[in-house]
Amino acid sequence: MARHLEEKDLEKLMLTAEQVQQKVEALGAEISRDYAGKDLLLLSVLKGSVIFMADLMRAITIPAEIDFMAVSSYGSGTKSSGVVRIIKDIEIDLEGKEILIVEDILDSGATLSYLKELLLGRNPSSVKVVTLLDKPSRRKADIRADYVGFEVPDEFLVGYGLDYAEKYRNLPDIGVLKPEIYTA
Ligand code: IMP
Ligand code: MG
Repeated sequence: MARHLEEKDLEKLMLTAEQVQQKVEALGAEISRDYAGKDLLLLSVLKGSVIFMADLMRAITIPAEIDFMAVSSYGSGTKSSGVVRIIKDIEIDLEGKEILIVEDILDSGATLSYLKELLLGRNPSSVKVVTLLDKPSRRKADIRADYVGFEVPDEFLVGYGLDYAEKYRNLPDIGVLKPEIYTA
């Protein structure tokens, strides 16, 4: 397979594509068991979770709808601004839906706690969260994910959907970005 040019910007590899894929399969199986017979809506938070969403939905073996929302809390830096803005909302009626928010990474928790409150106000049956990565050491909001792929240390990660200034999303593995890239 062709090497990605952007790999030179990684300090180290954190999770290989194979490790991620195994975990996604396991999460998909667990979610399929837990939501059997329910009206499952997978709600992906753009853009970071699109790759995870695409893999996870295929690992889920029960009927599921999908939709997308876009929020912004970051600007182009590596620290959350804490201010969440809705950039794209969902159009469908959420009444009675079992919503599973699909996130790439849970960091301060500001984005998710805002989103969860907003969705709960629209009368779904439930709102739960699956996140591929969890950085519990950085949590500020009182929120936890119902399904977690991997707990990761407090380092800035890119790849498998995660970006720095909109780059690196297409790397198949997840790695730690060289600090000189964002301190330069
Ligand atoms: P929170 O609101 O601080 O929990 O931020 C969550 C969002 O910040 C994630 O959905 C990512 O888009 C972004 N984010 C947090 N940590 C990282 C990281 O290490 N790499 C890339 N994006 C990150
Ligand atoms: Mg995100």
